[in-house]
Amino acid sequence: PEDRPADGLTVVITAGPTREPLDPVRYLSNHSSGKMGFALAAAAAALGARVHLISGPVALATPIGVERHDVESAREMHDAAHRLAGECALFIGCAAVADYRAEAPAEHKLKKREGEDGLTLRLVKNPDIIASVAARPDRPYVVGFAAETRDLEAYARDKLARKGLDMVVANDVSRQGLGFGADDNAALLLWREAEGEGQEDLPPQPKARLAEAVLRRALERLAATDRS
Ligand code: C5P
Repeated sequence: PEDRPADGLTVVITAGPTREPLDPVRYLSNHSSGKMGFALAAAAAALGARVHLISGPVALATPIGVERHDVESAREMHDAAHRLAGECALFIGCAAVADYRAEAPAEHKLKKREGEDGLTLRLVKNPDIIASVAARPDRPYVVGFAAETRDLEAYARDKLARKGLDMVVANDVSRQGLGFGADDNAALLLWREAEGEGQEDLPPQPKARLAEAVLRRALERLAATDRS
C-alpha cells in the first residue's frame, strides 16, 4: 500500500544561511550548508506533500518534486515566507537566519582607510521569521530548530514558548560529526500537547532519515491538533 501521509498537504520550509550585504561585494553570513532543510523538503515531497522550499545561497540541487524559491537576505526570506505561509498547513523553519544586518549597506565598495586601524559597522536586528509566522491569525503548524551547545532541553523549551512554536527540533551542535555541514544529525523533539508537552529522542542518523522521522512526528501532531 502507498505510504503518503502528507498527501494533499502544503509544506513550506526555510533552509540554508542568509546573506546580509555590507557593500556591493561583501556580506555577513554563516556556515549553514542547507542540508537539513533540503533533506526535509525531499522527505516531505516523498511523503506526498506539495513543498515550497525557501532557500538562502547553498550549493545543493533542488530535490525532485520540490518548488524552490531562492532568496539572499533575511528580509527577502521573511517576505517569501509570508507570501507562502497562508497557503500551508505546516511551516518548518530550518534556515540559519542572520540575527543582524548592516543598518545601511554602502552603495559603493568600502575602501580601506589609510591611517585608521579599525572600522565600525552598525548592525540592526533582522525580523524573526518563524516567530512572525507563528503569530499569524491563520498560522500553520510551526516547527522550529534549535542549535545549541549546552542545556539543550531547557533552551528548546524556552524557544517553544518564546517564539510561539508547536514543535522544536533541538540539536547539540557541539557533538562531533553532527549538525552544521555534516551528513548525520541527532535531535530531541519537543512539542506542545493539550496537556503539557511530548518529546522524542532521535539518535544520530543520516539527515535524510532524521528528516523523515521529524516529518512523520509533525504530521501526526498536526493531525492530532484541533485547529478550529
Ligand atoms: O533564536 P534562534 O536563531 O536560535 O532560533 C532558531 C529557529 O528560529 C530556527 O527555526 C530558525 O529558522 C528560526 N529563525 C527565524 N528567523 C530569525 C532567526 C531564527 O526564522 N531571524
